Amino acid sequence: MSLRLLITGATGQIGWQLQRTLAPLGEVIACTRAQLDLADPEAAAKYVRELAPDIVVNAAAYTAVDKAESEPELARIVNAIAPERIAEELARTGGLLIHYSTDYVFDGSKPGPYEETDSTAPLNVYGRTKLDGEQLIAATGCAHIILRTTWVYDIRGKNFLRTVLRLAREREELRMVGDQHGAPTWARIIAESTAQVVSRCAQHRDSTGWGYTGVFHLTAAGQTSWAGFAEQILEDYDSLASWAADTGEFGSPLMAKRVVAIASEQYKLPAQRPHNSVLSNARLLSTFGLRLPDWRIQLRLALQDAVR
Ligand SMILES: NC(=O)c1ccc[n+]([C@@H]2O[C@H](COP(=O)([O-])OP(=O)(O)OC[C@H]3O[C@@H](n4cnc5c(N)ncnc54)[C@H](OP(=O)(O)O)[C@@H]3O)[C@@H](O)[C@H]2O)c1
Repeated sequence: MSLRLLITGATGQIGWQLQRTLAPLGEVIACTRAQLDLADPEAAAKYVRELAPDIVVNAAAYTAVDKAESEPELARIVNAIAPERIAEELARTGGLLIHYSTDYVFDGSKPGPYEETDSTAPLNVYGRTKLDGEQLIAATGCAHIILRTTWVYDIRGKNFLRTVLRLAREREELRMVGDQHGAPTWARIIAESTAQVVSRCAQHRDSTGWGYTGVFHLTAAGQTSWAGFAEQILEDYDSLASWAADTGEFGSPLMAKRVVAIASEQYKLPAQRPHNSVLSNARLLSTFGLRLPDWRIQLRLALQDAVR
C-alpha cells in the first residue's frame, strides 16, 4: 500500500534532506513553517487531521538553543505542545510519528556513552522542552519513533561546519571549545537512516501498529570535541580543495592555520551545554540493523559533496 508522508520543517537541515530520502517511499508532502507553523498547535493538528498522513516525520523544531533561554514558552509550544497535538491526531488514525530529539536531554555527567534508558536531566531550556516533547508524545499512545541525534551539520543551513569555514576565511587562529564531546552527524545520513527506519516500520505495519515504537539514539560513530571537529574540517577542506574544480563558496582558500582548544568557561553562552554528548547506538543496531559511519567519514563525504 502506498504511504502518505508529511515532513515538517522542510527548510531545516534534516527536513531538507528528508525530501530526497523519503521520496521513494510514497507520496511526500513537505511543509515549511509558513505552511505548517508549530507555534500554533491547534492549526498544526487541524492540518494533520485534514491531510490524514500515514506517517509524520517531524523535523521542525525550535532549535535556537541560546535564544530559548529567553523564549521558554515559545520553545515549549513548538518542541512539546505541537508535537503532542500531532501525536494525538495520529493516535486516532493509527498513524506513525517519527520525531527527532537531542543529547541535550542529558546533563553530560556520565563518563561513557549514554543509553536510551539512562536518566535524563537537561541543563538548558531547549533540552527541557525537547524532553517534554518526548514524554508528551509517548503519553498520547501514538505509535512513535523518537530519534535522538547530536551535533547536526550540513553543507547548507546554520551549523558548526559553515561557521568554521566562514571564520577560517577571516582569521588565522580559531578558538574552539575542547571540553565538550560528541559525535558530529551529517543531516543527509540522518535522513537516509530515517528512510530505512520508516521503510522497516512500513513493512511491519498491520492492524496492531507499526512493529516498533520508542526512543532510539542515532548518531555518527566515534567522538570528538568541537575543537577536534574544527581541526578535521580544516584538514579535510584543504586536501579536498586542492583538487576541486569548482571555486564557489566551498572552493575558496582558507586563512586559518590552527585551532586552539579552549574551556567552555572561556566561551560563555546563555545556555549551558553538557560536557558529554556521546550516545550509544547499540539499540539502533540491534533493532534496525543500522550502524552510522564514523563522524570523520561523514564529514569527508559531506565536504566532497560541497567541493566539487
Ligand atoms: N541541529 C542540531 O545540532 C541538532 C542536534 C540534536 C537534535 N536536533 C534535532 O533535530 C531536529 C531537526 O534539526 P535541524 O538541525 O534540522 O534544525 P534546523 O536546521 O534548525 O531546522 C529547523 C526547522 O524547523 C523549522 N521551524 C522552526 N520553528 C518552527 C515553527 N514554529 N513551525 C514550523 N517550523 C518551524 C525551521 O523553519 P525556518 O527555516 O522557517 O526557521 C526549520 O525548517 C530537531 O528536532 C532538533 O531538535 C538537532
